[in-house]
Parts: sequence; structure tokens; C-alpha cells
Amino acid sequence: MSLSVKEAKNLITEIKKRDTSLGKDMSRWWMYQNHIITAANVAKTIASRIKGMDTEQAYVGALLHDICRTNERNEKRFHGISGYEKLINLDENAARSALLHMFLWNKIRPFEECKQMFFEKKKDYDFVAEYIKNTKVTDEDLLIQLADNLSNKNGFVTIEQRAQDLSERKGISIDKEWLEMRYKLKAYFDKKVGCNIYNLFTKAAVLVKER
Ligand SMILES: [Fe+2]
Repeated sequence: MSLSVKEAKNLITEIKKRDTSLGKDMSRWWMYQNHIITAANVAKTIASRIKGMDTEQAYVGALLHDICRTNERNEKRFHGISGYEKLINLDENAARSALLHMFLWNKIRPFEECKQMFFEKKKDYDFVAEYIKNTKVTDEDLLIQLADNLSNKNGFVTIEQRAQDLSERKGISIDKEWLEMRYKLKAYFDKKVGCNIYNLFTKAAVLVKER
């Protein structure tokens, strides 16, 4: 089963309505919206240049990868897991994207190192670790991971800009390994597409105000 672009957008509209009815501060909604729409456009653009990749699947997967992100703190549950559960009966590929988008190259660190991300829920961690162990990494997985890293609230960003944004927002320092995993991901797609993928995303081409 898979969702069309229209159905995926309707799901986002539902999330917006739910957040509004929960009384959340919606003044930041545009940031979330720009991030997911940019990620979707980035994924679709790259997919369209690679033989055999499904552009609609790429768009839908990237649009929905953070489907449970806005309510993560309320639920105290890693949004990759809750996103997977929300999507698994609607679109298996999109569910997989939600689950794996934070684990670059489908690699997961030991529980002790990522327990904060999992709100200390070992059962959720074990589920992701087991899923990763039993599945082969695909270009579709990697594409959503890259697209997530090339988009923020303002639209398309480079890996360095994304790193800077994250370190400012979360007060964390970005280490060499963090950057290298992302550079490797970009290099992988540069090679597949046959050019520096940054060149595909001028300000005019990317985004942002799809309503
Ligand atoms: Fe994201």
C-alpha cells in the first residue's frame, strides 16, 4: 500500500489540525512545514535523476519522515518509532523512512549513546536495532536521510549549514564523525546523479512556499 502525494499532504493537514486543537504554539508551524516540504522536493529532485528510483515514493517518504515530530515531547517517544507505527498500515515505504531517517547508513549506536533520543525506552531502541539488523540498506533509505540533512526551516541548506543550525538550536557540538557520515552520503548521491547535487538546488529551484 502506498499514499499518493495528495493523501500524504492531507495527513500533514490533519497533524496541523490536531496540533491546533491541542493548543500548541502554531507560530512555529511554518518551520516544520518548510523543512518537510524542502526535504520532499530535494528527495524528489534527486530521485528523478537516478534510473529506477520512484520520484513519488521519494516525495511522500520525505514529506512524512517527521510525521510524529511535532508531538514527540508530549508523547515522550522517539518520533521515528511513532511515525513508523502511524504509517505502517498506510504506506510501508514511508513508515520505513520515518523509522530510519535518523540512522545514517542504517547504523545505530549502542543504547547508552542514544537513549535520550529514545526517551530511555529500551524496547523502542531494540525494535529499531532489530529492524536494522534484519533489513538491507537501500538507496531509498539513504535518499531520505540525505534529504533530511539538506533542509531546514528556511529551505535547502548545505551539510555545513545544517550542522551549524543544529548546533545553535540544540546547543550541541558537531563532531567529525557526524560530518563525515553526511559527506559520504552526499558523495554517494553525487556519483549516482553525475554531478555535485548542490548544483541542483539553487534558491529559486528549491522550494519553499507550497501551500
Ligand atoms: Fe527531518
